[in-house]
Amino acid sequence: DKDVMILAIESSCDETAAAVVKNGREVLSNVISSQIDLHTLYGGVVPEIASRKHMEKINQVIKEALAEADCSLEALDAIAVTYGPGLVGALLVGVAEAKAISYAAGKPLVGVHHIEGHVSANFIEHKNLEPPFLCLIVSGGHTHLVIVKEYGVYEIIGKTRDDAAGEAFDKVARAIGLGYPGGPKIDRLAKEGNKTAVSFPRANLEGCPYDFSFSGVKSAVLNHLNSCAMKKEEVNTADIAASFQEAVVDALVTKTMAAAREYKMKQVAIAGGVAANSALREAMDMACQKNGLTLYYPSPIYCTDNAAMIGAAAYYEYLKGTRHGLDLNAVPNLKI
Ligand code: KG4
Ligand code: ZN
Repeated sequence: DKDVMILAIESSCDETAAAVVKNGREVLSNVISSQIDLHTLYGGVVPEIASRKHMEKINQVIKEALAEADCSLEALDAIAVTYGPGLVGALLVGVAEAKAISYAAGKPLVGVHHIEGHVSANFIEHKNLEPPFLCLIVSGGHTHLVIVKEYGVYEIIGKTRDDAAGEAFDKVARAIGLGYPGGPKIDRLAKEGNKTAVSFPRANLEGCPYDFSFSGVKSAVLNHLNSCAMKKEEVNTADIAASFQEAVVDALVTKTMAAAREYKMKQVAIAGGVAANSALREAMDMACQKNGLTLYYPSPIYCTDNAAMIGAAAYYEYLKGTRHGLDLNAVPNLKI
């Protein structure tokens, strides 16, 4: 009946973000201050720099989010914040900030799981998407296949044994000289390459059909580059990017389709930074069409880290009665 207004804060990695979300699905503001340029200098995220930058930016980002949404602290129903998983120092900045606002404004505090946020990003633009659905979560730190049984209720049916998909993108990008963050750069370069130029391996994990492994394909790329260097052969980096991306996308799509079949899911969603990958979106679109499944994915801005997705997840937690005390702490290795 009454609208639920949530201020959400996200600071688990290298984006300082705040958003105001109405009833879980209507984004009134979504402010993101990215630190990427800073970390690019070091070839990856430097945790201490991330924490310090969050500290510097967070008040301004929240102020902007409230102003853009034309929302006062009094009009809020809850303060939501990512409390894990992520970098501990980075998480602590958001958690401390959220606790301070919650205490000062007298509004309930709702801690949110970062990965639950990524899944919930799908609710923002797909107003009719409701559980149950199958979700492939592919971020920099996670690769999971889950069944979203109800809002906030997940059954994990597969996960990566080693590298996350995004991590593999970042490592291969570094090896071919593209720099950090590698995912978007490989995505772009692969468009100019031939995806059948090199056949990289797909892992087949005996007995665990929905588990993933990306360290094998990553090593295969590195070996290929080494052997080219030894033979003084020229390397076509666009071909490598396209062939590597093809191997990863193929594994992700094949296993997702098999899981949809076994668990009789009619709806499939993808989430996390790698869900922004154009080849993955295209291949998943085709496979879902072929199998009569409805596919959902967020716009790229809601795939990578943002606070609107935290607000979406927080809404359903809020409705269930989830409240955290002022003793809420950051949990860097928080499980789903
Ligand atoms: O979800 P996210 O923003 O942060 C985590 O929670 O980890 O994911 C970041 C990851 C990085 O590894 C980045 O390279 C990857 O997502 N990524 C992409 C693309 N955009 C971001 N990977 C492939 N293609 C993209 N277009
Ligand atoms: Zn993330």
